[in-house]
Amino acid sequence: MADAVLELDRVDVAYHGDIRILRGLSLKVRPAMITGVIGPNGAGKSTALRALYGLLKPVAGDVLIDGRKVTGLPPWKFIDNGIALVPQQRSLFNELSVEDNLRLACWSFRRDRARLEEALERAYAQFPMLRDKRRDLAGSMSGGQQRFLELGRALALRPRVLLLDEPTAMIAPRISAEIYEFIHGLPAQGITVLLVDQNVRQCVRISDHLYVLELGQNKVDGSARAFQEDAGLRDLIAEWVDYRIDA
Ligand SMILES: Nc1ncnc2c1ncn2[C@@H]1O[C@H](COP(=O)(O)OP(=O)(O)OP(=O)(O)O)[C@@H](O)[C@H]1O
Ligand SMILES: [Mg+2]
Repeated sequence: MADAVLELDRVDVAYHGDIRILRGLSLKVRPAMITGVIGPNGAGKSTALRALYGLLKPVAGDVLIDGRKVTGLPPWKFIDNGIALVPQQRSLFNELSVEDNLRLACWSFRRDRARLEEALERAYAQFPMLRDKRRDLAGSMSGGQQRFLELGRALALRPRVLLLDEPTAMIAPRISAEIYEFIHGLPAQGITVLLVDQNVRQCVRISDHLYVLELGQNKVDGSARAFQEDAGLRDLIAEWVDYRIDA
């Protein structure tokens, strides 16, 4: 299997002093595929994503980009390396227009008009609805439309790796299905995906490789097919995350 574009190597993360939330977690994001991360509430899925984006500095272990140690690098350097994050919590400026939210993501090259226009076009090409609503306030849109704006904003910067934290939480089922189809198509566009999700069914369906986390540790990982075909693994998943994968 191809080497990881982004990786946690035996990482410990602590929020307060010595309470370790991640404990020796190793995780590889392999290129041109979808890596799924599932696990119960509080398992440390979002914490792992924050460590993979430089928002949290490990107290032990390393973060690697393309096999290079980058532990302690600030988030904007991760952006420079083509890594984008759509966090679990809503991250838009509600009182700004759709287009201004996109422009803010382009702040570091705001004086480069051509590059700015190209970035906006990239977001609008992915989600034409955003172009129609470009003057509307972000906060006036539905939850699903706001999620598309967050995705468009991340993709405007042409990332090669997209980190997604529960992209369909609190989103209506019909829009959720659309979001999963969109994510499913990203590797074909050359975008590598790490998908953290409570929606185990969809996560197993569209992922190529799966990690199951429990209490900040890697419980098991393997190809998504192995999870579907192995009755023993299906039983374990049913027990850990209260969901039964279809055979
Ligand atoms: N900012 C913080 N300060 C202190 N503890 C935190 C903080 N954020 C998360 N935690 C704790 O770290 C643990 C892991 O949280 P995390 O958000 O990574 O879990 P998760 O797997 O993403 O859960 P969920 O499925 O609910 O999103 C939990 O026990 C949580 O209470
Ligand atoms: Mg979370």
